[in-house]
Amino acid sequence: MSTEVSTLIKVEKAKTSKLDQVDFSNLPFGKHHTDHMFVCDYKNGKWQQPQIVPYQNISLDPSAKIFHYGQSVFEGMKAYKDADGNVFLFRPDENQRRINISSKRLAMPEFPEEYFMEGLKMLLKLDSDWIPTTDGSSLYVRPFVFASGNGFHASPSDEYKFVIACSPSGPYFSGRVNVLIEEKYSRSANGGVGFAKAGGNYAGQFYPTQLAIEKGYQQVIWTDDTTHEYIEEAGAMNVFVRIGDTLVTSPVSERILDGVTRKSIIAIAEDEGINVEVRKFTVHELVAAAEKGMLMEMFGAGTAAVISPISGFGYKGKDYAIPDVENSYATRLKKRITDIQYNRAEDKFGWRFLVE
Ligand code: COI
Repeated sequence: MSTEVSTLIKVEKAKTSKLDQVDFSNLPFGKHHTDHMFVCDYKNGKWQQPQIVPYQNISLDPSAKIFHYGQSVFEGMKAYKDADGNVFLFRPDENQRRINISSKRLAMPEFPEEYFMEGLKMLLKLDSDWIPTTDGSSLYVRPFVFASGNGFHASPSDEYKFVIACSPSGPYFSGRVNVLIEEKYSRSANGGVGFAKAGGNYAGQFYPTQLAIEKGYQQVIWTDDTTHEYIEEAGAMNVFVRIGDTLVTSPVSERILDGVTRKSIIAIAEDEGINVEVRKFTVHELVAAAEKGMLMEMFGAGTAAVISPISGFGYKGKDYAIPDVENSYATRLKKRITDIQYNRAEDKFGWRFLVE
């Protein structure tokens, strides 16, 4: 099947490369883009011929439904290059599966698995010189689908565009972040789209996050929409806390994204012999642990930041510091997962995917 698909994908190479315009020793996250992108249009009830074309603007009618109704989903993945120049992805099957789960919730057509995987591989091979090799850097890969069909009628589009664009990127955050536990706004609700990687989920976070930044925090810790008592996510990431020696994270639900990094961290932690509890936990439990000196660590986990350690949290006008800890789980788990991703260690889970 994959051979057939690779011959089906039409490739138009860029006439010149922008590679020499990028300072690879100082890479911001997501700002620079590689020479090519993968695109596939959905029209007349089916996905059309997939193409790889030079990275370029997309022209849309002002009535395109993406602009009005936000019918759009995305994924985040990373490609890594090892010391021998081999290119790897990390669990790409999970992203392929999840983009279709997200699309379904947004009434969008699912994208064929073989187009996704073959398009991704061909694009990475073509732009492999763009994969950074400096520590902490990688090629951020952004598959996304949006409603490109026209008309102001509030109904699903009849046309869509699937795109994969890539960006050589450095770390998402530098250093530990201070967070505010959200008591008013919600990221998601029961029956909503919280489990989907829908663009609007992120847009809805910007305003509460701006308010938190004005108060001196960098990120928001999302709580459940009904009681604001249960801790659910950390900014655009899943959230973990270490109470004593136990690592706790919320179970995924219709409100919480089934994060690839989250599930990998759980598996690695269990493999390390760390006691992991996947259960609901409350702000009250967090505050009580912090007051007793039992809140050893707190961190966000996601593809972009991998693991983002939290230095403290604010709640009801009071700040709680989370002091640096020796033998940090965050440091240990981040090393284990990135060693697998960059092909620096054995991959006993079979997560690494060689792009060939
Ligand atoms: C991730 O880390 O998985 C993300 O989706 C982050 C992205 C919103 C930049």
